[in-house]
Amino acid sequence: MIREVLRMGDARLLRRARAVERHDTPELHALVADLFDTMRALDGAGLAAPQIGVDLRVVIFGFGHNPRYPDAPPVPETVLVNPVLTPMSDELEDGWEGCLSVPGLRGVVPRHKRLHYAGFDAHGAPIAREVDGFHARVVQHECDHLDGILYPMRVRDFTRFGFQDVLFPGQPARDE
Ligand code: NI
Repeated sequence: MIREVLRMGDARLLRRARAVERHDTPELHALVADLFDTMRALDGAGLAAPQIGVDLRVVIFGFGHNPRYPDAPPVPETVLVNPVLTPMSDELEDGWEGCLSVPGLRGVVPRHKRLHYAGFDAHGAPIAREVDGFHARVVQHECDHLDGILYPMRVRDFTRFGFQDVLFPGQPARDE
């Protein structure tokens, strides 16, 4: 079911979400299905449970190659429950981000270039990956939502923050 995505200003986006205590439940599978339905309906790259008002540590992300975004490498479709992120170096990389909870805007955000992440899929199977680049960026963006952090809070240079259609005329949007 496609759910309403909360927008910045809603206090529910600012909470630290609760850990999932039981894996592989019908409720968890229904939540994940709703997250995918909602993300696909909005052509997003990722979505976190708090964005649809669910106070749990669950994120999804991923997409295949899209000819409209030749520079964006595909990211495997992933469900991540109770994620733990561990940067593999202090090296940060700037990149443009958007967010379904901050529609129409884009900003440059520094993120860890390489990191290890771990968690569980919806069935409770462990996931552990080392990633870099855009994949690493998407994971950091989504997991920030679990701690009540929206990407504008991480923008350092507000000369590179603005409306997507003004910054990149004619370019389709993809929000996280
Ligand atoms: Ni977001």
